[in-house]
Amino acid sequence: MKNQIIIRGKRRLDGELHVTGAKNSVLPLIACCIMSEKEIHIHNCPSIADIFCMIEIIRSIGGYAVLEGDTLVIDCKNANPKLVTADLTSGIRSSVFILGPILARFRFADISYPGGCEIGLRPIDLHIYGLKCLGVKVTEVNGMIVCDGSEKTGGVVDLDFPSVGATENLMMAGVLGMGVTVIRNAAREPEIVDLQNFINYLGGKVSGAGTGVITVEGVASLHGGEYTPIGDRIAAATYLAAVGTAGGSARITGIDPEHMHAVLQKMRRAGCKIDEFADGVFIRVTDRLRAVHKIETQPFPGFPTDMQPQITAMLAAADGSSCIVENLFESRFKYTAQLIKMGARIIVKDRVAVVKGVNGLHGTQVLAEDLRGGAALVVAALGAEGETVIGGVQHIDRGYKNIEESFARLGADIVRV
Ligand code: UD1
Repeated sequence: MKNQIIIRGKRRLDGELHVTGAKNSVLPLIACCIMSEKEIHIHNCPSIADIFCMIEIIRSIGGYAVLEGDTLVIDCKNANPKLVTADLTSGIRSSVFILGPILARFRFADISYPGGCEIGLRPIDLHIYGLKCLGVKVTEVNGMIVCDGSEKTGGVVDLDFPSVGATENLMMAGVLGMGVTVIRNAAREPEIVDLQNFINYLGGKVSGAGTGVITVEGVASLHGGEYTPIGDRIAAATYLAAVGTAGGSARITGIDPEHMHAVLQKMRRAGCKIDEFADGVFIRVTDRLRAVHKIETQPFPGFPTDMQPQITAMLAAADGSSCIVENLFESRFKYTAQLIKMGARIIVKDRVAVVKGVNGLHGTQVLAEDLRGGAALVVAALGAEGETVIGGVQHIDRGYKNIEESFARLGADIVRV
């Protein structure tokens, strides 16, 4: 097996880590740049696989996109939507984000279905429904989504579910041109607020992000500029969960604790001592953790589905039984089979996992099959007895920049081979 991470666990984690910009903010921000004909700099950009894939998509349609240090320089003056190829868009789910911006600027979009996903079906019916509400004619031809926005005006979209991606796509679709777009039952994630701030910084007119109703007034054009996205709340929470399993103390900076309250509350219930400060959190774990009665994933401000695997890994060796309910994605417990190989006692039925905390996990050979499930294996291995060899590291690389370097900085015995 190539590209593995090897961890010898049970070493205290101590020190400080600074998180980069949030992957889930930067991805739609990059797509948003398609709407401007001026140069835009996005600072604090994470060097991770999903971002490189979006950069490739921008280049493939004739845009300029180069990562200079941790600043992404983008200029989409010469973008040509006719150049979008199925090869690229079918490789990454987030490619669906280019639909709204391309429609806003060029009035026409023709893309293939976005990349498949390991955690569930992830349909895009809400994106399509919303675009139709805005006057876009959508047809599906040979697996391609063909959107004619020549008569796009604006309109009211009532989302059946507060989908993050659909909310972002529809916000962007409404930015340029005539009309007012209203999105009801909009997602309220911090990344949605970040996208609003970015669009408004570039000269757009969006209000209401962070609430259930978002209003977008069309403008003639967007300008350029520099922007720093919010920190990655999921990466930060993953580091906290690792300190939870291994014990120790760490200061995680570059993150707004307001974005993490649901996670912090459950971690405190498990026995982690956590202080919040303006730019981050400090965690201290001295004793064996306790089980948490119930954790249910929900749209923000509820417990994030993207932290469900990592907190389950943390609770696998806690004292008592925890019940984890996954409400967002139907196949998000696959990684539990790998934790069971490490000695965890977990029973999964449909969308519920019952975790009976064991005295300790042990190292073995495991396989990451998706991004956050892979991060959960790292979290588990850092607290496990002996050596864990984790394969499928490319999944983890989608969302974490050199995860082994981050944990090595905290004192973990972790290497990539
Ligand atoms: C985003 C995040 C992802 C996170 C998820 C939920 C990015 C790049 N990704 O994904 O990390 O796990 O939010 O917080 O920001 N749905 C439909 N039809 C649609 C769209 C979604 O049924 O058209 C369903 C999905 O199957 C899922 C639920 O809505 O059950 C939530 O999905 P959504 O919020 O859209 O997630 P993403 O935007 O794909």
